[in-house]
Amino acid sequence: MTSKQRFLAALNCQPLDRPPIWVMRQAGRYLPEYRALKEKYSFLELAQTPELALEVTMQPLRRFPLDAAILFSDILVIPEAMGQGYHFRDQGGIGMDYTLDSASQIEQLTTDTVTEKLDYVAQALRLIAAELDSSKMLLGFGGSPWTLATYMVEGGSSKNFDKIKALYYEDRATYERLLEKISDALIAYFKMQHAAGADAIQIFDSWGGILSGEDYEDASLKWIRKIIDAVKDDVSIILYAKGTTPHLKRQAACGPKAVAVDWTVPIEEAAAQIPANIAIQGNLDPVLLNTTPSIVQDRASRILSAMKNRPGHIFNLGHGILPTAKIENMEALCHTITTWKA
Ligand code: CP3
Repeated sequence: MTSKQRFLAALNCQPLDRPPIWVMRQAGRYLPEYRALKEKYSFLELAQTPELALEVTMQPLRRFPLDAAILFSDILVIPEAMGQGYHFRDQGGIGMDYTLDSASQIEQLTTDTVTEKLDYVAQALRLIAAELDSSKMLLGFGGSPWTLATYMVEGGSSKNFDKIKALYYEDRATYERLLEKISDALIAYFKMQHAAGADAIQIFDSWGGILSGEDYEDASLKWIRKIIDAVKDDVSIILYAKGTTPHLKRQAACGPKAVAVDWTVPIEEAAAQIPANIAIQGNLDPVLLNTTPSIVQDRASRILSAMKNRPGHIFNLGHGILPTAKIENMEALCHTITTWKA
């Protein structure tokens, strides 16, 4: 069975001897070969040059027996393609080139040329798909409308999210106009990713968990549902959100093929809330990859045992891999998963 067949079987909730494994932001700073490329090129040069994006995407697959490749890019290419660029702050975190703080600026954001501007992503995906030759799953991705809106309205990474929340609570019409535009851009973008070779797409609602519980539906989930409705006949969606365990049932009900959970929930408790025809992805705490191979093996085995009678499990971290992750621990993790027998 190829990695891709294994991944598709898991997405379709068919029983397997072991789950497929991949990790988010796997091309990140924990790999010396990535850091070496970063000496020569900026992040944006890597992401915007299809041959370099291909190279960075493939780096982790050359080292580890992963079942999926994830496109090397960033969720913030969407605001950039809509007219609001971004950069990495010297002190860490994201800065947008300006802060979106008026309805007229929102009107000026463009959605109709997004796929043209992001043609370098389509080119990268085509190169990756050719290199993988259908042996491994190829994952595209994008941010959720809410998560992207937080960066756009806060002007970058934020502590309290007070500006985006003020917009949501005080000027709902303008908030909705913004979210509608981001959603339209994402629908076109996801269709483009699928056409260029993405086998499934992960939506990152990384900041879903900072909303009041009663606002999660109107501020975030309804826009995710709109996108899933528009693309799900073409491409499978994996919905990841951080800090939204109280909303698992609602997330499962909005049409994804898989719900990805963070590490704060025991995975069997998450599984109990998700219908049997929807897969679950997760959920090792990424910090464990800073510890030791035997701790990683122990913790990964716990997740595998907890899920062994639940067809439809995709092994993953509960969030992106950290720059401090140790290679030997990634090796131990992959070994634990790939030698497991249910
Ligand atoms: O495995 C892969 O290569 C996937 C590529 C990927 C990146 N970003 C590359 C990246 C993915 C899936 C993302 C998603 C992303 N980007 C999210 C959603 C997931 C999450 O983490 O919640 C978010 C919120 C972003 C925005 C973003 N990009 C942040 C907050 C940062 C960190 C900035 C900092 O100061 O640490 C980035 C940078 C980024 N995106 C890096 C990579 C490899 C590190 C850049 C570098 O130093 O080389």
